[in-house]
Amino acid sequence: MNAGKRGALIIFEGCDRSGKSTQSQLLVALLNSKGIPALPMNFPERSSIIGQVINSYLTNSKDLPDEVIHLMFSTNRWEHMNYIKQNLHEGRTVVVDRYSFSGVAYSAAKGLDFDWCYAPERGLIKPDAVFYLRAPPADLTNRTQYGEERYEKVEFQGRVAKVFDRICSEQGSYWHQFDATKPVEDLHAQIASITEELLPKVGTQPLEMLS
Ligand code: TMP
Ligand code: MG
Repeated sequence: MNAGKRGALIIFEGCDRSGKSTQSQLLVALLNSKGIPALPMNFPERSSIIGQVINSYLTNSKDLPDEVIHLMFSTNRWEHMNYIKQNLHEGRTVVVDRYSFSGVAYSAAKGLDFDWCYAPERGLIKPDAVFYLRAPPADLTNRTQYGEERYEKVEFQGRVAKVFDRICSEQGSYWHQFDATKPVEDLHAQIASITEELLPKVGTQPLEMLS
């Protein structure tokens, strides 16, 4: 690790059970094993007060208007921005399971206006890379634990996938799309090689904001 170089903000996105958690854990473990400081995070971050409300909503013990839960997901990211920024500036790479794009994809899939959904995300730290694990939702339904939380229904995930595809085509070259049905080790190898190329490049670049 070169002194004075910032870490990278790396995001995993995709539908429920697409393998984001597995891949983000493998990536953090790989970086750490090479002596590169990296830490995992995930959104929603369920331990804060807002995170606890989000958890009650997702586990169906609480109902909230679509707009309200949307803004809570966004607030949950904003409340962790200083923590992320500090880690990046101290040279740690932050690997995050879901970010703003999940916020937009799930709420727009319910019928909320796409631009309205994106608006509260503007100003958050822009990721250096997004790894989008893409698969037809029907291929993911037999994975473990599918179906336990609010959004884990094939029909709804199909709509979420369409919004992710739109975001992926609009966001440009920092998005990397993968076939999530590929073996875990193959995906990990591809993701690792992109990450290893990325880290030295971003180290001296200033942080940008989502716009
Ligand atoms: P998780 O399964 O990754 O813990 O995420 C919980 C659910 O919350 C998942 O179905 C996606 C959804 N979600 C949103 O609707 N908006 C958001 O901003 C985020 C981060 C997740
Ligand atoms: Mg889930």
